[in-house]
Amino acid sequence: MGFPVERPRRLRRSESLRRLVRETRLSVDDFVYPMFVVPGDGVAEEIGSMPGQHRYSLDRLLDAARRVEDAGVPAVLLFGIPETKDPLGTEAYAPHGIVQRAVESLKERTKLLVITDVCLCEYTSHGHCGVFEEGRVVNDATLELLARSAVSHARAGADVVAPSDMMDGRVGAIRRALDESGFGETAILSYAAKYASAFYGPFREAAESTPQSGDRQGYQMDPANAEEALREMALDVEEGADMLMVKPALAYLDVIRRAKEAFHFPMAAYNVSGEYSMIAAAARNGWIDGRRATLEVLTAIKRAGADIIITYAALDAAGWLRGR
Ligand code: PBG
Repeated sequence: MGFPVERPRRLRRSESLRRLVRETRLSVDDFVYPMFVVPGDGVAEEIGSMPGQHRYSLDRLLDAARRVEDAGVPAVLLFGIPETKDPLGTEAYAPHGIVQRAVESLKERTKLLVITDVCLCEYTSHGHCGVFEEGRVVNDATLELLARSAVSHARAGADVVAPSDMMDGRVGAIRRALDESGFGETAILSYAAKYASAFYGPFREAAESTPQSGDRQGYQMDPANAEEALREMALDVEEGADMLMVKPALAYLDVIRRAKEAFHFPMAAYNVSGEYSMIAAAARNGWIDGRRATLEVLTAIKRAGADIIITYAALDAAGWLRGR
């Protein structure tokens, strides 16, 4: 057939037609909202590198979490910034650590699904994601500490634990530790394909987790590799991951698509801090329409194959979707 019989523009003539033939529908049900909890009282400080995002002390976290709930967003992903840091990141697995208390509080007082980030980098004085010796992160010694962290989160009431460290074997180590401690129902969302990305820059200011020396290329993935991402995911599936994640999202849409096709698992994508802040900064300067750009990228992430979108824009997007 072809032109002039075929005219694809016929189906773009009106919003009602476009609605009818739209292939990808963003929903508030897809969103997970990341939140940062810090020590202190009455703290709600805006993060300079992430306009519109805040770090909250426990009391203020609860108010903010209620707003998340009211917006209809089903889940939060919690990051803790401890009072003190040490080489072994002991506050990461302290029974009454900052994140453990935050989980308890949210599970007691809200209906939100609570996911915790399991990693050591916010808790270690050197800022690396594991035990750091002679300039290297030691894989197997780190597993034990990650497993302890995950169990402490589960004990506090976390529904899902999300390891983001990229050590080999951590999903298996965490699954075994959870099962042995009676947390067989706690799910694992694995940051399976996490790249060594420049787009984490703003987050590292928020979480005070910039490595004091070196970088994370010895454990996070090379942005050039996609086959390797599929191997990472296969390993995590074997080790007992319940859900898989690709992170960041926008520069890795091809990886999301391939992973969705290769594994029949719920697929999450993390629309990371740098991706958020680029739009936020440009919008503040009047260079871009923040609302349209945000909805466009979130739709693209879903179209690529993500079932779950972790995004700092969750609250804004929830509001816009409701108003539409
Ligand atoms: C590590 C962790 C990071 C992010 C989530 N978990 C930072 C890193 O690996 O350096 C980044 C999130 C973002 O940029 O929004 N605990």
